[in-house]
Amino acid sequence: MLHVKLLKVKDPAEMGKRAADLFEEMIASKPACVIGLATGSTPLPLYRELIEREKAGRIDFSKVRSANLDEYKGLAPDHPQSYRYFMQENLFNHISIKPENTIVPDGLAEDVQAMCSAYEAQIEEWGGVDLQLLGIGHDGHIGFNEPEETFPGMTHEVELADITRQANKRFFNSIGEVPTAAYTMGIGTVMAARKIIMVITGADKAEILKKSFFGPVTPEVPASILQFHPDVTVIADEAACSLL
Ligand code: PGA
Repeated sequence: MLHVKLLKVKDPAEMGKRAADLFEEMIASKPACVIGLATGSTPLPLYRELIEREKAGRIDFSKVRSANLDEYKGLAPDHPQSYRYFMQENLFNHISIKPENTIVPDGLAEDVQAMCSAYEAQIEEWGGVDLQLLGIGHDGHIGFNEPEETFPGMTHEVELADITRQANKRFFNSIGEVPTAAYTMGIGTVMAARKIIMVITGADKAEILKKSFFGPVTPEVPASILQFHPDVTVIADEAACSLL
């Protein structure tokens, strides 16, 4: 595990609270901080908690900048399954963050290379990511960085693994509608964040949690690279910790 801190919590609701504590702390100490955000079901209790805490006056998002991990290739920002839409619905529309201070890779980019470079450049211009939130896929993917022979560096286009398309088909009418490609921050982009929080809940994630943090570091399990990051907190519920 090296530097990784494992925070074991009871359930998804407690995960949301503990993760929100870390966001609250970061934003209090650096109001214009840059946060890296993730989609998926796992972060939802955290996003609900952040919305509540801003309503209660505990957090102020008005100066915060955010960069999302990934987006489906070919989906417009207003497509209900796009990650831009997900972020608007589940967080951005309910907090004071300024629209111009939120970025998500452009699913409709015509010049993919230019879009990916501009994405990296924007994060760099903001001074880099202070706090990066991550979920994890059943195959160990972070963002949409799937198991490969090497760790991809920067924001780039990826083919989605079958296991990922299967896991995500619950949001679409059929498997045929699930995009086959996406844009994602690279492993290098993620590893450059100064602080990382990974949230993991559910028994179906127990095996990948164990593999990622208690097994060898290998691009076949992309999340395992986090063992080499100096400041990672894994917040996992009892079900996800059941094999430890
Ligand atoms: P989930 O997705 O939170 O919906 O399980 C996580 C991921 O695929 O990164």
